[in-house]
Amino acid sequence: MKSWTDRTPRLATDALGLLEAAGATGDEVAEVRVGPLKAVVISHPTLIREVLVERPDDFPKGRRQHAALRPVLGYGLLTSDGDLHRRQRRLVQPTLVPAEIDRQVGVMVDEAAAAADAWPRGVCDVVPLVNALAMDIVGRMLFGRALRDEGALAASIVTAFEWEMRALSGVVAPAWVPTPGNRRMRAAVASIDARLNELAGQSHAPPADSRTILDALRQRRDADGMTMARPQLLDEVRTIWGAAHETSADAQAWCLDLLARHPEVQERLAREIDESGGSGTLDLADLEAIPYAMAVFKEALRLYPPAAAMLRAARRSTTLGGVRLRAGTLVFISPYLMHRRDDLFPDPLRFDPDRFGPDRAQETPRHAYLPFGVGKRACVGSYMALLEGQALTATLVQRLRFAPADPRPPDAELVINLRPARGVRLVLTDRSDRQEG
Ligand code: HEM
Repeated sequence: MKSWTDRTPRLATDALGLLEAAGATGDEVAEVRVGPLKAVVISHPTLIREVLVERPDDFPKGRRQHAALRPVLGYGLLTSDGDLHRRQRRLVQPTLVPAEIDRQVGVMVDEAAAAADAWPRGVCDVVPLVNALAMDIVGRMLFGRALRDEGALAASIVTAFEWEMRALSGVVAPAWVPTPGNRRMRAAVASIDARLNELAGQSHAPPADSRTILDALRQRRDADGMTMARPQLLDEVRTIWGAAHETSADAQAWCLDLLARHPEVQERLAREIDESGGSGTLDLADLEAIPYAMAVFKEALRLYPPAAAMLRAARRSTTLGGVRLRAGTLVFISPYLMHRRDDLFPDPLRFDPDRFGPDRAQETPRHAYLPFGVGKRACVGSYMALLEGQALTATLVQRLRFAPADPRPPDAELVINLRPARGVRLVLTDRSDRQEG
């Protein structure tokens, strides 16, 4: 075990620093301390594959995560285990496949175009802007309503998810203690469910072409022909919401910052959008003709994967990469560290979307790029996340030009997700003005 000093970053206050310190040891199974507990950090594809794909039952999600998430998410996909998780995954996954999501690409593009019109010009922090945009998109795709039209629901969502973030960081009393904060969280969850119940009760069998994810979830039947019970359905909706919103917003904020700092990439993307004939509102065929937009977004996810570390715990005493782990040892699986390894990605800190160009797709070693995890708990929304990232990046760059307002890139912090610590200040100008000038 390395000797950790008072200056070793602590999980609660500097989780990213802790990961980086672990990465800097050069150990493939780097040992760190989390309070009184021993934990390990891994970032090599072979070890990550072992934990997530080959031995997932030896390394389940820990109790701590479940305890923090369940008061808000109940027993949705993120927080269920065993048979319930298997059954629910089979029910939920088909509602997020291309055939369901492609139909809603217009929602993504329309919302992004409206946002580009409405966002202020000049210096602004894009984090709250992309947050509101991602919220409206999830709301419309899930149940056909933009959150800006649902003030009470939006406020409850914010209260509930803020509580969840604090609970995951270990800074709130257990959910059963009736503190004012816990009571507010419970009231928020109850009010979210009351509104979702109304929405779920509204239309019974909408035509397939206007079906929302909530409609699709309601129609799914398990092997016995049973649909989901209403409380389970609401748990899945809150879970999809929680999993889809913040991750996508953080990814988009990082992507815009990288584009602002790499004008040559931004201009090439703008040119490719122009050349593809996508001068108006982009559709699915236009997006397919702009693979560079996808490459840009994927490269942003490489440098700033929102799920910078996934957490598991050893079910019993075992070994991993030759290191003995006691039962309960926390295992941090870090795509962030892996994506920055120079043995996997040459010149790893360079923003180079061509790494994900069509002709170089084979070059990334297997399991070296995991922004969406892998194995039986991998992200079910990865297709939607990538399409949304591509649609937003292309639509925003088609209309706006982004430049950095500060010379230094934003600091990152890991608070569940990898987010900009103090916002992302950019200078926004109209692309049309610029061309005319
Ligand atoms: C850029 C955006 C996103 C990123 C980076 C991301 C990343 C991830 C990762 C890494 C996991 C696995 C966590 C683990 O193994 O511990 C995960 C799980 C999950 N994601 Fe995503 N996600 C994104 C967007 C979405 C979207 C759009 C949805 C839904 C529409 C979604 C729904 C879920 C769900 C339900 C799970 C739990 C799956 C399970 O445990 O079976 N995510 N996500």
